[in-house]
Amino acid sequence: MYVCICAAATEEQVQLCITAGAQTAKQVAMGCGAGKGRGCGLCRDRIKSMIENHFSSCEVDEVGQISA
Ligand code: FES
Repeated sequence: MYVCICAAATEEQVQLCITAGAQTAKQVAMGCGAGKGRGCGLCRDRIKSMIENHFSSCEVDEVGQISA
């Protein structure tokens, strides 16, 4: 399923970027193009939601390392 039609970026591609360490919509855009540049921007809330969901299930240890 596409998250970003403008960039033809799928949910799997966006999730892979997040799993690989993207913590912002801009970093996701740099990774797979979703929500990047002159696109319509309709996907950005969905991308932010995916990032929040991913990191809400992660734990941060005492030195700031994030683990899933
Ligand atoms: S759907 Fe992502 S920029 Fe248009």
